[in-house]
Amino acid sequence: MSGTPSTPARPSGGDDPTAGKSFRTPIGTHDLAPPESGRWVALLGTFIGAADRAGFGYLQTPIFEDIGVFSRIGEGTDVVGKEMYEFADRSDRRLALRPEGTASVCRAFAQHRPTTPWKVWYQGPFFRYEAPQAGRYRQFHQIGAETLGTDDPDADVEIIALTAEFFGAIGLQRVPLLLNSMGDADTRLAYGEALTSYLQRRAADVDPADRDKIERHPLRILDSKRAATAAVAAEAPQITDFLSGETAAHFERVRAGLDALGIEHAVEPKLVRGLDYYTRTTFEFRAASLDAAQDTICGGGRYNGLVEALGGPPTPGIGFALGIERLLLACDAEGVFDVPAQRAEVWVIDTAGGAAARDLTHQLRSVGVRADRAFDDRSIRAQMRAADRSGAEIALIVGTDEIDAGTVTVRPLRRADGGSRDMPQQTVPRSELLVTLRTVFDVLNAPAPASADSSNPA
Ligand code: HAM
Repeated sequence: MSGTPSTPARPSGGDDPTAGKSFRTPIGTHDLAPPESGRWVALLGTFIGAADRAGFGYLQTPIFEDIGVFSRIGEGTDVVGKEMYEFADRSDRRLALRPEGTASVCRAFAQHRPTTPWKVWYQGPFFRYEAPQAGRYRQFHQIGAETLGTDDPDADVEIIALTAEFFGAIGLQRVPLLLNSMGDADTRLAYGEALTSYLQRRAADVDPADRDKIERHPLRILDSKRAATAAVAAEAPQITDFLSGETAAHFERVRAGLDALGIEHAVEPKLVRGLDYYTRTTFEFRAASLDAAQDTICGGGRYNGLVEALGGPPTPGIGFALGIERLLLACDAEGVFDVPAQRAEVWVIDTAGGAAARDLTHQLRSVGVRADRAFDDRSIRAQMRAADRSGAEIALIVGTDEIDAGTVTVRPLRRADGGSRDMPQQTVPRSELLVTLRTVFDVLNAPAPASADSSNPA
């Protein structure tokens, strides 16, 4: 995907070769529609609550940026070198669709120079030209959070705790946390040399498809899924043995903080992550319920040099991003966080032309009731069926008799939990409708009276 694509001339008028064609979403992208979209809204709502309680504010950055913002992630990484959607705009500016969020957050920090610590969260679409499969898409969606301006290990703990709390809130359980430290620039240099010379000695045992990485990007060998390479990686020198006294102490403080908060974790010295900006802490939550190739639902770490690389002052940072699609696959596999039921509370049935349904739904919505109706002047049977399908607890029926008398017929249908409760319908003056509705809701949904047997212990 690199190189400046030339802009093809747009077909005009009758020459349009797509005329009469039916279109579908591009490969690796998806529409998100109800009811599944209700799950995304609920997921975001849950995260927003946790982020808000922890003092993170919402940051929104553009979906495309100057390509230079993203090349700072590391020209040698797949994300930048192979997968970025690059383009030139009509004024020949070199731009790219964002492949991740951290570089944009650091660019925003360098541009606006906010007071620190700067704690922000973000969400939205990201783009990588990958081979699509379950859990891997070309447009995917992340939720992320970053804390800039402090190197305090407690900031690392806070970021990880926010993620762990969020997973707990949506009910995910089988998502172990793996932790590592990449040390500082000296650590990476010394470790890179040791790793390269080890891999050069073992080159013949490395899977041929991975061999070019030995010189180009030795760290990438460590997370290869190919069996022969993984066997070589298992015996490779470990980065945790190369940490300086200061970075080792930082790592220990992070681990102690996680222990203090009861957040279980395992140290994984081969956890190097796919982006080049990491220093010190790195971590991943991997879903035990998903296929190993796509089991990382959340990744993050420290990037103490990235703001400076983007033209800002030296500023440490720590953050994470989680993939919403993958997270929901893990929820499916664990049977948690179902699609929420989207249900009307009241369904208005109007057999006198529709004006009463128009006015009543409007009036009810304005006082906070989820009210809906059918359109197109359908028969009363069709409207009753629609009321049934909607899951509404109460139907309001308005025909010519009710209109002449200024009344509404209130017919209880079911309890909010879908259960049944016998209650007669009643016809009330319009002025008493809201009071009547409140009473009917209360009676319908009141706990069932205890039976004679259960109130009379033997
Ligand atoms: P990342 O590991 O590249 O890290 O992506 C984070 C998460 O996004 C992954 O764990 C995965 O769940 C999801 N993801 C990535 N690519 C795809 C894809 N093609 N399809 C579906 N889901 C995907 C980052 O992006 C860093 N910015 C994280 C970070 C924040 N580090 C520090 N702060």
